[in-house]
Amino acid sequence: MIALGIDCGTQSLKTVALDGESGRLLASASRSYGLLDGLPSGHLEQDPQHWWTALQETVTEVLAALGGRKKEVCGLGVSGQQHGFVPLDANYEVIRPAKLWCDTSTVVQCDEIRAALGGRESVIGLTGNDILPGFTAPKILWLKQNEPQNFAKLAHVALPHDFLNLRLTGTLRMEYGDASGTALLDVRQRRWCDEICAAIDDALLDKLPVVGSSCQPCGSLRPDLAAAWGLGEVVVSAGGGDNMMAALGTGNIRPGAVTASLGTSGTIFACSEQPVVDPAGEIAAFCSSNDLWLPLLCTMNVTAVTESFRGLFAWDHARMDREIAAVPAGADGLLLLPYMQGERTPNLPHGCGVLHGMASSNITPAHLARAAMEGVTLGMAYGLRRMETLGVRPDVIRLTGGGSKSAVWRQMCADVFGYPVVGLAHAEGAALGAAIQALAACDLRRPLAEWCDRCAPLDEDSRLAPRSTEVYPALLARMNELRSRVFAD
Ligand code: XUL
Repeated sequence: MIALGIDCGTQSLKTVALDGESGRLLASASRSYGLLDGLPSGHLEQDPQHWWTALQETVTEVLAALGGRKKEVCGLGVSGQQHGFVPLDANYEVIRPAKLWCDTSTVVQCDEIRAALGGRESVIGLTGNDILPGFTAPKILWLKQNEPQNFAKLAHVALPHDFLNLRLTGTLRMEYGDASGTALLDVRQRRWCDEICAAIDDALLDKLPVVGSSCQPCGSLRPDLAAAWGLGEVVVSAGGGDNMMAALGTGNIRPGAVTASLGTSGTIFACSEQPVVDPAGEIAAFCSSNDLWLPLLCTMNVTAVTESFRGLFAWDHARMDREIAAVPAGADGLLLLPYMQGERTPNLPHGCGVLHGMASSNITPAHLARAAMEGVTLGMAYGLRRMETLGVRPDVIRLTGGGSKSAVWRQMCADVFGYPVVGLAHAEGAALGAAIQALAACDLRRPLAEWCDRCAPLDEDSRLAPRSTEVYPALLARMNELRSRVFAD
């Protein structure tokens, strides 16, 4: 029994093939794509057709690598970058490019929706979540206000993974996890919130797909695709947002588990049996892919920041790690506020990067690289401290995402977060989680937890304890102080 897991990210789409018996990955392929060029600052968009092309190419490549074993493929699951708004017309065709999770052009729309509903507190009271530029709701109002001719064509709202599921099965539906990232779902009741929808448009509710359990498959692979790919009957599982899928791919499905993902975004999320609502709206009150809840911190500046410094010095990853390890914690006073693309948490959509504490002794490539890695990790620690106040107390933090492959970064996470950390055999948790969900959809006799235990074991050799240090708590306090001064309203 083999399942394909697909992760549609911001930089690339990856497809993996997972063997249900051994729990091993058999093949993988990826295609990179970029953001659309030429847009004003803060507008980050992609053409959903590029995702669909990448999906077809990578699936074809992975099936070719499976050779004769491709007949064993019984299921397919799709993970997608959260929050992207894919506007579809009455024929389910894409009307315009998707505004993405990292688009910060909707600050005005967030303010308007909040104001119409009586402010942040009432909005959080209605759904559990604030209205933030990254989320889908303000993107819909943006379309209405800025492109009325496109809004007039809007018949269906889809998220990136829903759009790919639609192409694969012919069915458009939403599941609780990704739907909770629209900020239109009342996460406590798991149903669309009439008031928020009405504040955007009277007819919006009718344009939202049916929302249901994340454990219920989306449908079957279209017969024409199955024939073209040389496959038999294939079930397409519900799929989900990439963080919800990474929860499955890191075995984070039992209350108490916590994962940190070091990717284009930085996220930290926990599994909870109840909705976890932050009265300040900084920690998102999302639903999970196993029909529980997933309180989540998201920062927008992680590997893009470290990669830009690595690119500046033309180092490979091994060299970057060596250089960073040679500089003491705290980078001899150099501190980076990493808000290069604006920031979600803390909410600074118009933020920018700030380098503080420069001295002739610390202006070296190695210090700059260390300050970059520390800055983005401290950025995540800001949210972790907030999660602690909401009752999230990890025993250990599971690490996933591209950055988790670096041993230096893993140790830095342990030291900065102040908890032990552990990696997994496969760093690409979202694609793995999508494949695990698809296996569970193929064989309903075994619970999801059993598939996670089999296919996403912890890599105990990578477990690291935090080294006690005063440097990072002091650095986080300095970062908070600087931020409030530099970005004061
Ligand atoms: C989470 C978020 C990001 C994207 C990245 O709220 O916006 O982690 O899901 O793909």
